[in-house]
Amino acid sequence: MVKHTVLVTGASSGIGMELARLFAKEGHSLVLLARGRRALDALAHELQTQHNVSTQVLEADLCDRLAPIKIAQELSGRNLHVDVLVNNAGFGLLGPHAELDTQRQLDMLQVNIVALVHLTRLLLPGMLARNTGGVLNVASTAAFQAGPNMAIYYATKAFVLSYTEALHEEVGKTQLHVSCLCPGPTHTGFVAAAGMEGVGLFKLGAQTAQDVAHVGFTAFQNNRTIAISGFKNTALAILGKFSPRYVTRKIAQALNR
Ligand SMILES: NC(=O)c1ccc[n+]([C@@H]2O[C@H](COP(=O)([O-])OP(=O)(O)OC[C@H]3O[C@@H](n4cnc5c(N)ncnc54)[C@H](OP(=O)(O)O)[C@@H]3O)[C@@H](O)[C@H]2O)c1
Repeated sequence: MVKHTVLVTGASSGIGMELARLFAKEGHSLVLLARGRRALDALAHELQTQHNVSTQVLEADLCDRLAPIKIAQELSGRNLHVDVLVNNAGFGLLGPHAELDTQRQLDMLQVNIVALVHLTRLLLPGMLARNTGGVLNVASTAAFQAGPNMAIYYATKAFVLSYTEALHEEVGKTQLHVSCLCPGPTHTGFVAAAGMEGVGLFKLGAQTAQDVAHVGFTAFQNNRTIAISGFKNTALAILGKFSPRYVTRKIAQALNR
């Protein structure tokens, strides 16, 4: 099997950390990116000792609109050619649009959308030139309907899903894989970061980051366009497809309380 260099954003915790572990287990080299240096260093040590793979750490804040350019420069300075980009970093915010902090909401657009697109645009040409690797984007089941009380977050994930589907088709005649992982509620640092403790959506049950990452990893290996994690989330997404939009957004509103 071809050994790739895999850049995972948001590798310091949750789903990103588990995805990094799965790629390392298969013998791929890792570049671990997030703000949390200590967690990245600990993971790098773990992956090197357990799987004997080359692992590098890249500390970056994706709220910074210049971050993708600095990351690309840093990668070429280290002579690293990224074959697989895992755009996993992201966060949500619970609350009405008019009440949430303006800058944090703009930061969310930057991290969840702009940085993801910019990194992809910078790294995709190299993948196409080498005709190997690809992009695994992490969206959410939030992508499938509007989300009152989390309006921006749901909209960012709808963007990621649409963008990824389109990219999948654009590279269709190459060896590249492009997949979108759509997790439902998952036990990670996301809940606290979004202020979602005690919210109805999570009371319905949440998956582990390991299980979710496994779904995304397998989907990427098989070049599946969209992978929804878990039977319940898949069933709800299919049900939502056949329901009027005003119904699905009302349900989302009720669950985001
Ligand atoms: N958990 C869920 O219920 C759920 C459901 C659907 C989709 N998702 C999606 O899954 C992805 C991973 O989230 P998670 O659940 O694993 O949550 P998490 O444990 O909070 O992980 C989020 C990761 O993103 C990184 N990150 C956040 N802001 C960043 C920034 N400004 N610059 C660089 N890195 C940043 C964090 O690292 P640092 O803080 O160290 O920078 C962390 O590694 C996200 O895109 C999320 O939207 C999660």
